[in-house]
Amino acid sequence: MSKPPSVCVLLAELPEGGMRACQADDREIVVCRTKDGIFALDNICTHAHARLNEGRLRGTRLICPLHGAAFDVRDGRALGAPATRALATHEVRMVGDRIEVAVSPGESKAPAV
Ligand code: FES
Repeated sequence: MSKPPSVCVLLAELPEGGMRACQADDREIVVCRTKDGIFALDNICTHAHARLNEGRLRGTRLICPLHGAAFDVRDGRALGAPATRALATHEVRMVGDRIEVAVSPGESKAPAV
């Protein structure tokens, strides 16, 4: 049986173009709100240990603050070096004004660069 989703963020706390870090199932998650929707991914860059919520969100591109790798928040795919591995993505659902995240156990299936 899968675990129930974790409440990460309230919608009112996350304007479009914004992101928030949270902890769910002992995993660091970043929740990103874009014009294409709300997405949740692992918050730790796949290149080295940097927190992506400290970087920038440009449209659907999440840019690492440490060496500038970019990821597509829609599927976690790495878009630019030096990262080559995709970020794990997690299912998001809205319950009232709460953004809930169901943490996936594994890594993203999105292709690497
Ligand atoms: S730690 Fe993210 S690009 Fe190097």
